[in-house]
Amino acid sequence: EKGGHEYFMLKEIEEQPEALANTLRGHFDGGRIILDEQRISDQDLRDVDKVFVVACGSAYHSGLVAKYAIEHWCRLPVEVELASEFRYRDPVLDRATLVVAVSQSGETADTLEAVRHAREQKARVLAVCNTNGAQIPRESDAVLYTHAGPEIGVASTKAFLAQIAANYLVGLALAQARGTKYPDEVAREFAELEAMPAAVQKVLSTVDQVRDLGRRIADSKAVLFLGRHVGFPVALEGALKLKELAYMHAEGFAAGELKHGPIALIEDGLPVVVVMPSPKGRAVLHSKLVSNISEIQARGARTIVIAEEGDETVRPFADELIEIPAVPTLLQPLVSTVPLQVLAAEIARTRGYDVDKPRNLAKSVTVE
Ligand code: F6R
Repeated sequence: EKGGHEYFMLKEIEEQPEALANTLRGHFDGGRIILDEQRISDQDLRDVDKVFVVACGSAYHSGLVAKYAIEHWCRLPVEVELASEFRYRDPVLDRATLVVAVSQSGETADTLEAVRHAREQKARVLAVCNTNGAQIPRESDAVLYTHAGPEIGVASTKAFLAQIAANYLVGLALAQARGTKYPDEVAREFAELEAMPAAVQKVLSTVDQVRDLGRRIADSKAVLFLGRHVGFPVALEGALKLKELAYMHAEGFAAGELKHGPIALIEDGLPVVVVMPSPKGRAVLHSKLVSNISEIQARGARTIVIAEEGDETVRPFADELIEIPAVPTLLQPLVSTVPLQVLAAEIARTRGYDVDKPRNLAKSVTVE
């Protein structure tokens, strides 16, 4: 049941703290990160020299987020690939390549075929999946299950947040195997992840504000999303949610690209959602984004700014300010995504659409 909510998606958005806690539970024991299934030796994990993340849609965005963490923690090159593109190229794979296949359903045809292609080339495959015993984990060398619970809404919400957390656990498992992080550092990163359900709970207090905003901008023609660093894939995810639910033109950009083209799209009244990095954690990027916001505001954009609480520098440039709790830089997507989910759902509802069953979309895409 929808638990008193008008649509399942809102219930699932509110279940995100629990989805995260359940995904982390049991994965740090005896001072070590543990996967659910590992048919790959510790030695092989240690010898990995390149990582590909392959996935589709929101799962792909979870991989883009994880790239920042895995490269930083493991000092390994990480490529994030749309599964549908990966297998029709000629990717360079061998025994020392780890392919992380991320899929909520575990049945997505393109991702499954990417897994098969990778294994034929002798790469090791690790599945991150929300569905016990699905085909992708069955055909993989190692598995980490997200425990988001069944997702009824076609648009991914809690599974997406759980995928980010699980991808981070994969990064920590690799860092531990490779020795690029000391055991106490792995323990500290895990403890920071464990604090995230409470942070997500806190950001849920913005739901009413964001729904009200959604109602006010529901008749816009388009919405743009800007972010940098881990905020860039969040911008892509915010745009995808809006396209699929509200059937609106929406695009996510890396804010640094603004002057290379997208700024030409800015016109009077166009809502632009900006995901701000922390003013302390990422001071340089923060100041660059503040100047981006002032530029687009000067050109008439309606600025909707997702910023860390207490971030005063951004206030003068925000037509609407949505505050998120201060969390470690790499973990910010777990809180900054939440208002974007709510925004898309509420715009869709205001426009009279079925939030849980958007047109033309299926929950699990088992054909190519
Ligand atoms: C977006 C959405 C889709 C899925 C994609 C992959 O809200 O739900 O983009 O993320 O179809 O699905 P899985 O994760 O099942 O492979």
